[in-house]
Amino acid sequence: MPANPTTLAAKREAACKALLRKAHAVIDPAGATPAALEQVKALLIGLASKTDLFPREDFAAPVAQARNHMLAEDGEDGFGLYLTINMPGKVAAPHDHGIWCVNAGISGVELHRFFQRTDDGKTPGYATVEELTGATVALGTGIAMADHDIHDTVVIGNQPAIGLALYGYALTRFPSVVWFHPEFESVRALPSRRAAAASATVNA
Ligand SMILES: [Fe+2]
Repeated sequence: MPANPTTLAAKREAACKALLRKAHAVIDPAGATPAALEQVKALLIGLASKTDLFPREDFAAPVAQARNHMLAEDGEDGFGLYLTINMPGKVAAPHDHGIWCVNAGISGVELHRFFQRTDDGKTPGYATVEELTGATVALGTGIAMADHDIHDTVVIGNQPAIGLALYGYALTRFPSVVWFHPEFESVRALPSRRAAAASATVNA
């Protein structure tokens, strides 16, 4: 018998809000330390592994590339939890979100590679990076990144990579995301959304 959609949506909302509460219980006392982020990663893997809560039909697929669906946000400039769908072949160049993030897989496979910047940052538009390690995100696995860690991503195989992403800020209040293009030794920063989001709140 199909699950009652109202019940499922309510269960999902409750589970996502509980995840935010648990993440706060870990991070608020000590900050987003590597150890705290590893604990939150385990929590997020636990939620993502409850795949019945996240049926494909409840989340519209991207037209192309990728799409995010908001699951729970703290408000008050707090955390944001999203279901992400990245289509087969989707790649993202190395980038620094400017805020910590934790990912956990629901289905499909996404490969993440981690980098460190190797230039001194003094030449505008110029940057070099070197690859450090890699990790696969699929059902039962995840990654945790500190505020200024750099990663790139590629979806492996012919199925979308669907997963959960928890960030220290809501996507609508993101800081500047910095994009690196190693083949051109270039770096470009997107504008921060934080100032605009704050003034929109004040003017509302
Ligand atoms: Fe990213």
